[in-house]
Amino acid sequence: MLQWPVRSGESGAGNRVSTTTSTGQVHHDDDRLADYLGSNRPQSGRVWDYLLWCGKNCPADRDLVASLGRARTYFEKAARRNQTWLYQVTRWASQQWGVRQFVDLGAGVGGPVALHENIRRQVPSARVVYVESDLVACCSLEQDTRDVPGTAVIEADLTQPRTLLDHPVLRTVLDFDQPVAVLLSAVLHEVPDDRDPAGVLAAWRDAVVPGSLAAISHLTADDHPQVVQQAVEVYAEAGMDLHPRTRAEVASLAAEFGPVTAPEPLYPPLWKPERLVIAHSLVRPPSECLTWSVVVHRGPD
Ligand SMILES: C[S@@+](CC[C@H](N)C(=O)[O-])C[C@H]1O[C@@H](n2cnc3c(N)ncnc32)[C@H](O)[C@@H]1O
Repeated sequence: MLQWPVRSGESGAGNRVSTTTSTGQVHHDDDRLADYLGSNRPQSGRVWDYLLWCGKNCPADRDLVASLGRARTYFEKAARRNQTWLYQVTRWASQQWGVRQFVDLGAGVGGPVALHENIRRQVPSARVVYVESDLVACCSLEQDTRDVPGTAVIEADLTQPRTLLDHPVLRTVLDFDQPVAVLLSAVLHEVPDDRDPAGVLAAWRDAVVPGSLAAISHLTADDHPQVVQQAVEVYAEAGMDLHPRTRAEVASLAAEFGPVTAPEPLYPPLWKPERLVIAHSLVRPPSECLTWSVVVHRGPD
């Protein structure tokens, strides 16, 4: 069992892993997990967890958040608003748009309420696949989803969409003849242009049927350039690269999946599924808003 919270100096001994790897095998790998937890390196999913005031993080993650200085408050608020947006989108996807299948790319360690729990409250038969490149996050998700029917965790790199889309577990859990909600929440800003984030959206667009949707939230420096630059430097020092993008760049990524309807992308607190959106240009940006959010529907071929 993965035991949270991991305390200072703890190597992860006693943590047992069971993950579904990109080869499709479920295996136990205590040594690999111990190496990860013992490395004392922060990891973005756990840092995000700490920004959400949750408990699945390590001392190195908490140190990084402390180093954010003035940017910390902005990032904490951005994380919370993003979480609210994500729950709202998935609720609408299931209740109003009739989507029953979700794939969460760059899922992190779980959030305050696990996403599959939130979704399955609305639709008990919903299917939820988590995709994560980080082993510790995968283990955490694996624990949360153990014995939950219709869920799976895949350890994979989302920037290899063709490999992922052929993954036997993905193909078993999701029915690609039915609509899928592709969630990219607070993750694409960890993908540099040379890893082709646009290609990720295009590959998923080609793989899913009309009625599917992509929900994207993305770090931006549009409104608070200095705050975001400070965070970019702190993350870089810890070996993690952030790539904030402008509103136009986020819109152009989303357009690879489906038509982007103005006024999106929006600040997460302003996103309204009913499109009861007040002219965005008239609205003062909510303070400490560091992300753009957009939901695009895959149209007919
Ligand atoms: C900031 S966290 C966001 C977690 C979650 N999506 C949320 O909104 O709460 C970003 C997560 O994306 C994962 N990630 C980053 N690049 C990835 C990649 N190429 N493939 C899979 N996961 C990735 C990181 O490991 C991290 O856990």
